[in-house]
Amino acid sequence: MARIVVIDRDGKETEVNAQTGGSVMEVLRDSGDFGVAAICGGLCSCATCHVYVDNEWMGKLKSRHNDEQEILVALSSFKPGNSRLSCQIPFTPELDGIKVEVAPEE
Ligand code: FES
Repeated sequence: MARIVVIDRDGKETEVNAQTGGSVMEVLRDSGDFGVAAICGGLCSCATCHVYVDNEWMGKLKSRHNDEQEILVALSSFKPGNSRLSCQIPFTPELDGIKVEVAPEE
């Protein structure tokens, strides 16, 4: 188990405990509380799993690959320094305590 600190679209902060081994998107979606639809199921094509990763954690993640980057830059809510598709972030034990904010719906 590891923790994700989630800031929802109303600014409320919640700590979620979840199994590692999936993606950050799966934790957010499966909790049901954050409005993360993840329509494409993690195939990097819908952007409904868009989050802003806290500055402290952003540098600990692998860089965005090309497909993720292309989708993100097309969003009006894109923030170059913080935007990620949460389905493209493997939730590993090293990310225990990662802080993410659910991005606005497009
Ligand atoms: S779940 Fe669709 S892009 Fe992440």
